[in-house]
Amino acid sequence: MYYSDEIIEEVRSRNDIVDVIGSYVNLKKKGNSYSACCPFHHEKTPSFHVSRDKQMYHCFGCDAGGNVYTFLMEHENMTFPEALETLAERAGIKLPEKSMSPEAKQQNDLRTRIKEMNRLAAGYFHYLLKSERGTHAMEYLKGRGLTDETIQRFGLGFSDVYSDDLYQYLKSKGCTDEELKDSGLVRFDEKHGASDRFWNRVMYPIADANNRVIGFGGRVMGDAKPKYINTQDTPVFDKSRNLYGLNYAKKSKRPGIIFCEGYMDVIAMHQAGFDNAVASLGTALTPGQVNLIKRYTDRVYLAYDSDEAGTKAALRALEIMREFELPARVISLKPYKDPDELIQAEGTEEFERRIVKARSGTMFEIDILADNYNQEDPQERTEFQKEAAKKLSVIEEPLERNNYIDSVAEKYQMDAAALKEIVTKYGIAGTARVNLSGFQEKRSKGETGADKDDQMLKAERLLITWLINESSLFDALNGVLSPEDFYEPVYHSIAEELFTQYKAEGKVTPAAILDHYQSKEEHDKIAGIMQQDFDMEIAQEEKAKTVTDLVRTVKERSILHQLDNAKGDLTKINQLMMEKARIQKLIIRL
Ligand code: GTP
Ligand code: MN
Repeated sequence: MYYSDEIIEEVRSRNDIVDVIGSYVNLKKKGNSYSACCPFHHEKTPSFHVSRDKQMYHCFGCDAGGNVYTFLMEHENMTFPEALETLAERAGIKLPEKSMSPEAKQQNDLRTRIKEMNRLAAGYFHYLLKSERGTHAMEYLKGRGLTDETIQRFGLGFSDVYSDDLYQYLKSKGCTDEELKDSGLVRFDEKHGASDRFWNRVMYPIADANNRVIGFGGRVMGDAKPKYINTQDTPVFDKSRNLYGLNYAKKSKRPGIIFCEGYMDVIAMHQAGFDNAVASLGTALTPGQVNLIKRYTDRVYLAYDSDEAGTKAALRALEIMREFELPARVISLKPYKDPDELIQAEGTEEFERRIVKARSGTMFEIDILADNYNQEDPQERTEFQKEAAKKLSVIEEPLERNNYIDSVAEKYQMDAAALKEIVTKYGIAGTARVNLSGFQEKRSKGETGADKDDQMLKAERLLITWLINESSLFDALNGVLSPEDFYEPVYHSIAEELFTQYKAEGKVTPAAILDHYQSKEEHDKIAGIMQQDFDMEIAQEEKAKTVTDLVRTVKERSILHQLDNAKGDLTKINQLMMEKARIQKLIIRL
């Protein structure tokens, strides 16, 4: 790990989670905890909770959860060291020299170095653009209507015609061949040695959400192919989890986020004042990008090219948005090809009007569908109407569904009552299918014993929650149950941490445990467990009985498991059988 556990814990404990999250999210106090609409998924009623006692957050809607570190990592897209440094600064703590495992250090150093090399390269490309050597490139950009201010803001640049110009520059700045290889900026081959990946192109530096250059797109200044070359995947450049322009769009005051297809579109839109525009990085939109954008907005517009490829990409993007329950509207750019062209030809106000007139994703899909059928032919027209009805039948909200039925009927001159009838028919068929499969799944689970597994897992999870909320339990469990008895690996290791904490300090600090886990999935899971609160008002006897049952369940499973592994060791088997008998009579007192 990067910093010592003590430092991590000190920084965490000196940044109150309610204050930190409260500076990003509008928290409302509610009893012991604070709540808000979840910043990690779209919702209308608050299910995001922050607890001051536990110093953790958890969303009951999307299961996101963690401590202050997790929050900054997820919400601000920071790495762990970045979150730690931010919070240390916030609390006025001076960090000691970094210490970490050699591999972690190497990996981290490499990422830092790659960002540094990208920063140097961006600076160099920008310098070249403004120098005499970049005259041609500058003319190209100016010819496309970009102002000096825009060129500056996006840090645009130029890569020169020499094949190792950047390589020589970065060498002069002390970069080694080894790290340059990892940066994706330079290629090495046995015959020709080092050569720049980008040459004779206008350069678009690509920043992450925190404004750090992670890669480049380079465009030819004419019609040569390929039009664009992008940085290949590197340890810092992940095309599926970053968006061009997000560093600015995330601070925009305009409502929603506008997705376009090209870098040039984003730049033209920002220049025209639509500074909430972003684009994917030379690939189709990915689920990772939609998930990323959900942190910043609950409203999305698509301003994709109006040609066939753009329409296809928009349909696919809408599908992904639907999976993430992010409502999207589609901006029509016709008769222009892309936002850049439209703004050049018609100006800002026209684009503003197009935003207002944007169609909902569903309406766009139905319009595209309509184009595939010859509406003059009764047979084809019927087929279109059925397909449209299928689309409408999946809209869950009845009012919304009816509104769509009315609009579609009017637009395509259909009988609204007839349309409604078949939408309902498809709707019922859909529900029946869902129910049936739900039923079958349940049955097969029971048969394979998965239900029982779930029960066991639940018992372990609940017992952990009890340990966190009722520290007298540690003493009561002495000699009865130990962390070893937890079967599920995550629960096992949490239990270990809790017992260790209690032994050392006589109390538990749940939020500190999180820092021993790396993945977001683990953080979500663990925070979910820890944030559970019981109704602590229940009578003492009732509590004791509940806990006794849980301890028995967990312990019995553990004993059965040990018996499985005892492999004919009679002494061991005997001992386990006795323990099993003892457990039957066990009574926990709190
Ligand atoms: P201009 O043609 O300068 O207006 O650029 P644009 O950004 O509008 O590009 P276009 O609409 O043609 O393409 C959209 C996006 O697809 C670009 O911004 C690139 O990210 C990507 N792209 C286009 N052409 C290529 C290519 O030849 N190779 C790669 N890797 N990506 C491309
Ligand atoms: Mn374009």
